[in-house]
Amino acid sequence: MKKFLFIATASISLFACTPKTAEITEKVEPSFPNEDVAMGDKLYVENCGKCHGLKTVTDYTPEQWKKIVPNMAAKAKIDSDAENKILQFVLWKTENK
Ligand code: HEC
Repeated sequence: MKKFLFIATASISLFACTPKTAEITEKVEPSFPNEDVAMGDKLYVENCGKCHGLKTVTDYTPEQWKKIVPNMAAKAKIDSDAENKILQFVLWKTENK
């Protein structure tokens, strides 16, 4: 009986903690400077690995990315808001490798 109680209490406290940590990790990864860049990372992963594998951001220079992103955004059929966030993300990443 004692053992059962212990397990019950342990799982209750585990459940109580889970939503809090999930909230924090979902908001912004701490290494990103702002929400746009964090969102850009998400959008990049979601939209940019469909036709080819996800390209390594640091393989290209910022100058190349400024041409590549509009080009690929058209292929991926994403809106200009998503395009802008992806561009912010790749530019940030090339400067913070
Ligand atoms: C509809 C298909 C499609 C989608 C979606 C797509 N691409 Fe591409 N991408 C291509 C094709 C085709 C090429 C040329 C062949 C190759 O390099 O694999 C290419 C090439 C590239 C290259 C290499 C360019 C170069 O000059 O060497 C990069 C970088 C790239 N894509 C990034 C992206 C990014 C970022 C996104 C998301 C916004 C994206 N792609 C989404 C089809 C796509």
